[in-house]
Amino acid sequence: MVKAAVLGASGGIGQPLSLLLKACPLVDELALYDVVNTPGVTADLSHISSVAKISGYLPKDDGLKHALTGTDVVIIPAGIPRKPGMTRDDLFKVNASIVRDLVKGIAEFSPKAFVLIISNPVNSTVPIAAEVLKAAGVFDPKRLFGVTTLDVVRAETFVQEYSGQKDPSKAQIPVVGGHSGETIVPLFSKASPSLNIPADKYDALVNRVQFGGDEVVKAKDGAGSATLSMAFAGYRFAEAVIKALRGETGIVEPTFVYLPGIAGGDEIAKATGVEFFSTLVTLGANGAEKVTNVLAGVTDQEKKLLEACTKGLKGNIEKGIDFIKNPPQK
Ligand code: NAD
Ligand code: LMR
Repeated sequence: MVKAAVLGASGGIGQPLSLLLKACPLVDELALYDVVNTPGVTADLSHISSVAKISGYLPKDDGLKHALTGTDVVIIPAGIPRKPGMTRDDLFKVNASIVRDLVKGIAEFSPKAFVLIISNPVNSTVPIAAEVLKAAGVFDPKRLFGVTTLDVVRAETFVQEYSGQKDPSKAQIPVVGGHSGETIVPLFSKASPSLNIPADKYDALVNRVQFGGDEVVKAKDGAGSATLSMAFAGYRFAEAVIKALRGETGIVEPTFVYLPGIAGGDEIAKATGVEFFSTLVTLGANGAEKVTNVLAGVTDQEKKLLEACTKGLKGNIEKGIDFIKNPPQK
């Protein structure tokens, strides 16, 4: 029996992600939670002839408690998206407290759940979640994930002409670091099968992966950021977690995790100087079984990208931790 819950289920990401989870034969129960519109979204999805039994909740009548109780996997796309001219960090002011409060609910009602955070800025919201879970005495680093799969999906897509793959998802490209601008580092030298990127195309390709989100924000022209590609990516990661918890082995996905407490994590933390980092994670029935250090043997160009990444990432992580340790005065 697998129960999944989506918090922020009525939004641009929440709706298509909930659709994909409702259609997933590996999900037995699906709970939707949002501050608005969950009854309508739930009624609509409930007509789909698939395995998952669906229920929807608003905050009233202990909605969060009912959505979370008995849940194995919680996916959080709650929070505001960017408009043109904004950075992901500009979302912190609103989204930090949304994530804090939802994770407090998880600590109380489903402390053993796998928690998948989509809400931006991921580089800060995941440290926020870790601090909330720590304060409640229920933090398990193996069960908390920042969803960075969209960066991987973009890298696979944007290199297609060099990977030669008809199906771009067959190109495996580690994208490490964080989830915003320069903190996103595609390691093309570690791609499998290997890529042959012309030297004069390399910088533009890296830039497109790092700033792919801006492309969508600009094209949507004030109507939000990536939702459909994010639902695809979020589902890909959630499905990997669900398969692993059901006992499937050998599943590896890049994701943003708290390195100490996961096998292999200390080595990367030492090399990068940061405790939260996206890298290849082997998933198992208990969550993140081990992390793989893909940083050894990277090219000089990639070393430079990694330097810029860790510099930015440090500040983002500290900001998230500080938000919980020294809460802003009201
Ligand atoms: P949206 O505004 O369309 O939807 C957000 C939903 O969250 C809304 O339905 C809203 O009612 C709900 N919500 C707000 N506060 C809530 C609360 N306290 N409890 C429950 N639900 C609440 O936004 P979107 O386009 O779906 O984006 C959501 C978030 O995902 C944004 O922060 C965005 O930046 C982020 N995002 C992350 C990635 C990634 O790669 N990790 C990719 C795309 C978007
Ligand atoms: C993305 O990468 O598309 C998301 O993080 C949304 C954004 O703000 O760009």
